Amino acid sequence: MSNIFDFTGGASGQWNVTRITPVRGEPLVHVPCLNIVSASLTKSDHGLWTLKGVRSNLRYTEKNEQEKLQSIQANLARPEATHAALIPIRKSEDWWKLAQDDRRKIFEAQSKHIETGLKYLPAIARRLYHCRDLNEPFDFLTWFEYAPKDADAFEELVRMLRTTEEWKFVDREVDIRLIRARE
Ligand code: HEM
Repeated sequence: MSNIFDFTGGASGQWNVTRITPVRGEPLVHVPCLNIVSASLTKSDHGLWTLKGVRSNLRYTEKNEQEKLQSIQANLARPEATHAALIPIRKSEDWWKLAQDDRRKIFEAQSKHIETGLKYLPAIARRLYHCRDLNEPFDFLTWFEYAPKDADAFEELVRMLRTTEEWKFVDREVDIRLIRARE
């Protein structure tokens, strides 16, 4: 199975879209459903839009953080996690011009992305897809799954991250919320 995935907004899919909020920059048009399929590098023209992302290696996570994450994180597709968020994000050229160690400082020493995120595990299950090197409109597709009872906690986390130094480098962000479609 490929590590490349297409997130297609259109008339059918495993997830029903409840809202699409443009947080910063250009919005995405509203669609009723989201379908996620294993894909290839070939451009696909399904649905109203398709965002391509690849599962990749970690860039910033240090060993002790990786161990903590692995010991508490939940898997995707838990039956109770009927809510999801797809948050595509692009960072500015100023971010990409920085050296790797300066980016890590902003990401963790200044913004505490992992330290904060860890507090919301295992309630929130997550997966990061990269797309900057695929000439896609976003740099990352971030994916989260949670039970309805954890929806408020997820809002709090997202709100908090958006106030950080890291987020000053986010120049496009769209917040797509979903509910698992009945089979
Ligand atoms: C649920 C708790 C969360 C945890 C534990 C968490 C953890 C992480 C970790 C460990 C990385 C670094 C991966 C690497 O080493 O390359 C990362 C990257 C990232 N996360 Fe989170 N995260 C969480 C929530 C969020 C949320 C809610 C958002 C969006 C609103 C988000 C957006 C991102 C983005 C865009 C990156 C890539 C940053 C970059 O490479 O510049 N994360 N996250």
